[in-house]
Amino acid sequence: MPVISDPAQFNEEELYVDLRAALGLPLYLKCEGFNFAGSVKLKAATEMVNAAERQGLLRPGSVLVESSSGNLGVALSVIAASRGHRFLCVTDSRCNLPTIRLMEALGTRVHVIREPDVHGGFLGARLAYVRALCASDDRYTWLNQYTNQGNWRAHFRTTAPAIARRFPDLDVLFVGAGTTGTLMGCARWFWQWRRRVHIVAVDSVGSVSFGGPAGPRMIPGLGTSVPPPMLDESYVNDVVHVEETDTVLACRRLAARGFLFGGSTGTVVSGAGQWLARNGRDGLTSVAIAPDLGERYLDTVYHQDWPVSAAETVEGIEAIEAEEAVAMARPA
Ligand SMILES: Cc1ncc(COP(=O)(O)O)c(C=O)c1O
Repeated sequence: MPVISDPAQFNEEELYVDLRAALGLPLYLKCEGFNFAGSVKLKAATEMVNAAERQGLLRPGSVLVESSSGNLGVALSVIAASRGHRFLCVTDSRCNLPTIRLMEALGTRVHVIREPDVHGGFLGARLAYVRALCASDDRYTWLNQYTNQGNWRAHFRTTAPAIARRFPDLDVLFVGAGTTGTLMGCARWFWQWRRRVHIVAVDSVGSVSFGGPAGPRMIPGLGTSVPPPMLDESYVNDVVHVEETDTVLACRRLAARGFLFGGSTGTVVSGAGQWLARNGRDGLTSVAIAPDLGERYLDTVYHQDWPVSAAETVEGIEAIEAEEAVAMARPA
């Protein structure tokens, strides 16, 4: 086992769940939630802070500031605490309370936006706040995960080659799209080194990232209300949109098998299930990325009263579960 002196030095990179036993789905789930930040965002946070330090952007008295739905905020809180930087996280009211508490426990100041911008939604309101802050006070250094090259480079350097090492015959990779850092880093790496890997982006219904109509979304992490500037769709072979009801059902089905994953993992697994039901074939090797674990979602995704339309009624869940069970059991 490794012995570390800095939280960024440990990141479990080799763990996969074979979903054939749990869900009857021919899919390997790469678990990115086993590190001191509890999510895939530790990679982007480390890469972006390293670059800012190298470029001399963090002077004595500097304050890091970032807009985050939670996980990047926690990851930057971990890195900032371990390196002695101050950090202000700007989030919105969809951010889970335990996540806010976690950041505060790590010494971060958290600002919660409660009203969405009329045009740009919550994300637009968060970005407007950060821009105004940086314009008024030059002590603030905004890493801007939406445009920072370190965000996708982290996955180009680590996530994609790790998957290729473990699955040299990989056919399909399913990646959830938020800022699209994970998606673009992996897609660029596979395009450069293993061109035949089919890259499938998974997004939430209501997200505008791939040109769909904007709509309400409750689960943080995936989807945007402003098109992500980092996204280059020419690297993406397919896009699957997932209803949040299906996200919740996938999460609960995994939990029923002892695998408590975060909301976006439910989205990616449900999207992969849809895609494989349409395009799967015998012998296909497919991997999906699970960005975090489920403990931060106990009051939302895993709360039985959580209001997600059809999932509100037991009948609704049972009807959809029955339909999905049939779809997932279909041979790939
Ligand atoms: C839980 C979760 N899933 C998925 C993502 C999306 O990752 P990316 O921003 O690299 O697209 C994030 C990003 O914050 C996240 O927190």
